[in-house]
Amino acid sequence: MEKLVQVVIFGASGDLAARKLVPALLAIASKGAANLQLVGVARRPYSDAEFREALAARLDPGERGAFEAFAGRVHYVRGDAADGLEPLRTRLDELAGGAPAGRLFYLSLKPGLFVPAMENLGGSGLLQGGPWRRVIVEKPFGHDLASARTLNQTLHRVAEESQIYRIDHYLGKETVQNLFAFRFNNAIFEPLWNRRHIELVQITVAEELGVEKGRAGYYDAVGALRDMVQNHMLQILALVAMEPPSSLDPETLRDQKVAALKALRFPREDPPVRARYKAGTADGRPVPGYLDEEGVGPDSTAETFVALRAEVANWRWGGVPFLLRHGKRMPKRFTEVKVQFRVPPIQLFDTCAQPPVVDGLACQLRPNHLTLSIQPREALSLGFGVKVPGPGMIMAPAELAFDYRDRFGAQTAPAYERLLLDAINGDPSLFLRNDEVEAAWSAVDALPAQPLLDYPAGSWGPPEADRLFHGCEGSWSRG
Ligand code: BG6
Repeated sequence: MEKLVQVVIFGASGDLAARKLVPALLAIASKGAANLQLVGVARRPYSDAEFREALAARLDPGERGAFEAFAGRVHYVRGDAADGLEPLRTRLDELAGGAPAGRLFYLSLKPGLFVPAMENLGGSGLLQGGPWRRVIVEKPFGHDLASARTLNQTLHRVAEESQIYRIDHYLGKETVQNLFAFRFNNAIFEPLWNRRHIELVQITVAEELGVEKGRAGYYDAVGALRDMVQNHMLQILALVAMEPPSSLDPETLRDQKVAALKALRFPREDPPVRARYKAGTADGRPVPGYLDEEGVGPDSTAETFVALRAEVANWRWGGVPFLLRHGKRMPKRFTEVKVQFRVPPIQLFDTCAQPPVVDGLACQLRPNHLTLSIQPREALSLGFGVKVPGPGMIMAPAELAFDYRDRFGAQTAPAYERLLLDAINGDPSLFLRNDEVEAAWSAVDALPAQPLLDYPAGSWGPPEADRLFHGCEGSWSRG
């Protein structure tokens, strides 16, 4: 039997625990990947049985069978992040029954509670002893560089950096990891992966959803830039832009991501575009504007759309624009990285497609692009031009395509399952190091404040975002 692992979730009655963490732990336990006990901690006065019932009620019907087998290993301790942790310690010791147990503490808490919870955990001695003690810290990791530093300092007062696992669920997605694998297992792309051959990189995370029920309190205080760009999108950017690591050692890997993030700049002449959705449609049905969402106040200043033009100022990337766009209530959900290659120095052929005209000038078509589709489609495609059969030399666009599902069938494990298992196994590669989070905040803090525009729900965002493309550089992908 595998060694015992006790997972303690602070904030166990919350949405994340029910929707993501418990299903992920269930999958880990039912695959026999770890010998788990789960202890939920929250304020509600649940007994073990009531906690189990509450969790079971929120699981997908397909998961209930597995939960029945696991339920006996699910327990509950009533408490608050700032309460004394003696009852928790006693319970954990009882449950372990003298067996050595690794302990993973998951802080699924409101951001304001991270510091008191960590101080409390540190003071209680629960982060010491045993085969290992680790803490997973959920986002948001601070709201700017200063607060992220304060949080890091608190963590370091009570725990070693090697015990701290800052989670970014995007890194648990197979297709995000494949970005890394694709770049560094295929020598044919590396010689092209630089400013000489790449003209522009665009990264989109478009969501069809608006602000979900019960989330406005959190979302309104952060907005799109802090909710998605500072963490998930800059992580994707780092994987695209980083130098090849010399090994898969977690520190070597993270060193390279930090170096890419530290080189991030935002040109002054192209300030970010911020906007908020107004009433419009989603899936053909009318939906309210952001200000009319439950829990959003009339004086809200949060953006739900953000588009940026960035640069990675180093020898590999200098001068190549990285365009980032994220919005809620867009016409469809897709996450994608699109790498656009330069055009041949002279254009010999005609094309069957109408070239775009910008400022009265016909632009040369960009036939070569590599698209890494992260979700919902998990795919890769390489675009190029081919000759149309018949007289003349007329070119048409064509594609080499790979689809994860066609190749590997069934869906891949959800991000939280992979990440929780890595934390249990002590592999921090897909978690953020302190300097990585700080580098990302430092870049985002440097962005100038911008007026808040609007866009109808169900549209591609405000037209101002299109101006982040210059001349013939192209336009935003529509997935
Ligand atoms: C979360 C954000 O981190 O990521 C949400 O807080 C967002 O606002 C979500 O909707 C998107 O995640 P995914 O995995 O559905 O793309």
